[in-house]
Order: sequence, then C-alpha cells, then structure tokens
Amino acid sequence: MTNGEVDDELTLSAYRADSSELFPRILDLHVEDGARIADVTHGTGVFWQDIDLEERDMRLVTSDITAKTDDLSMVADCRALPLQGNSLDCMILDPPYAEGFYRRNKDHMAGHGSHKSFRDTYSGAREYEGAGTYHSAVLHTYFEGGKEAKRVLRDDGVLIIKIMDEVSSNTQELAHIQVTNYYERELDFYTRDLFIQVRKERPTVVGMKNQIHARKNHSYFLVYDMP
Ligand SMILES: C[S@@+](CC[C@H](N)C(=O)[O-])C[C@H]1O[C@@H](n2cnc3c(N)ncnc32)[C@H](O)[C@@H]1O
Repeated sequence: MTNGEVDDELTLSAYRADSSELFPRILDLHVEDGARIADVTHGTGVFWQDIDLEERDMRLVTSDITAKTDDLSMVADCRALPLQGNSLDCMILDPPYAEGFYRRNKDHMAGHGSHKSFRDTYSGAREYEGAGTYHSAVLHTYFEGGKEAKRVLRDDGVLIIKIMDEVSSNTQELAHIQVTNYYERELDFYTRDLFIQVRKERPTVVGMKNQIHARKNHSYFLVYDMP
C-alpha cells in the first residue's frame, strides 16, 4: 500500500491500495485464524492473491455465478446459496456494484470495446436475471446476499462486503449507506467497521462536457456482525 502506512502496526480506515493489499489487513483485524469462510462472488480471486490460507488455518469455499477460475468450489447464485445454515464464521460478498452490469440485454451492458475485459471480470459477461432495474438491481443482490449471510453465518460470524456508490440516471446513489441501513434495520446486523479504498490510478474521463458530480475514485469494505 502507498502513503507509507504499509508497515504500520496500526490498521487505518482509509488506504490508497489494491484489494489484494487491503483485504489481508481486514482479515487480520476481523477474522480469526481457523475460520471457515465462503467467498460467494469469488471472481478471479483477487482478494486471496496474497493470503496464505494454510498459515492462517482458514478453510475457504469459493463460488460465483460464472466460473472464472479452474479451482472454484462451485457455481452458485449468492442469493440462494447451497450452503448449510449456521455453518460459517465469515462470508465475503462483492457482487457487481454498478447498475450497468445488470442489464438484461447484453448490448446495453456497461463495458464495451476496450472495456470488455472489465465487464467480463465484474459482471460475468452475462445478461442478468436479477430483480429490479438500474440501481435497484444492484441493491437487490446486496439485500438478498445479506439475507443469505444471516442464514449461513453462525451466531458471532462476520459478513464482509465490498461496495461502491454510483450516480445512476443522474441520481446520487450512496449504496454503502443504503445497504448498511437495510442490513441494520431489516436484518439486525451491527456495522463493526468501514474501510475506504482509494484507487491508485486517476480515472480516465472520455467526452464529458459538464461535470455534475465528483468522479468516484473510492470504494468501501464494510464489516458486519451477526445480530
Ligand atoms: C466485482 S466482481 C468480484 C471480484 C472478486 N472479489 C475478485 O476478487 O475477483 C463481481 C463478481 O460477482 C459475480 N456475480 C454477479 N452476480 C452474482 C450472483 N447473483 N451470485 C454470485 N456471483 C455473482 C460476477 O460473476 C463477478 O465475478
């Protein structure tokens, strides 16, 4: 991580860092060695890139709606997991955070041309059979994934999500607040921690005439305790 914090003992709430650098620090602080963990939107497994599971004695089950690595434990929808209730110490949820990845018609999906590999990583490059349209489709996956977390986690388990706010249809959608409100009010989770991850690279902007909102260059990791 940059900013000179990498060697500090003290874990801070904001870093300019890649997920593979920040995620291990979050595990250090919030997930005990020996934990049974499910990463239910595993993607290409960036979070686990620099983590020695054996050293931490952690057992990891990986799933995703489309397999992107050969060693995925199973293909599964995070909204209906084939996992036993009350069976895990930790669940990781990082579904697509932008409504553009949820379009039912692939031609309308975010990430065309040179952005196609980005789309493949984030959406699974498939039309999405989710509920709702635009930003509500994003929230739907976080809400349903949160319900599954509540079912599969044991009593003092933790849910870790990654999320980004977005401007959708010219409206500011503070997704990390919307999801936290739902988890706290509807699912009784307690929000134990929040980390801000700032992108290392400056975002590129093409063809913008009038800027209305700040261009987002940060996302969040949030840690919730079971009720
Ligand atoms: C932001 S990427 C996750 C990146 C991942 N954390 C990594 O380290 O590579 C979102 C992932 O969620 C998956 N996904 C989308 N909808 C899903 C669903 N309903 N259930 C499970 N996975 C889903 C996509 O296929 C994609 O791999």
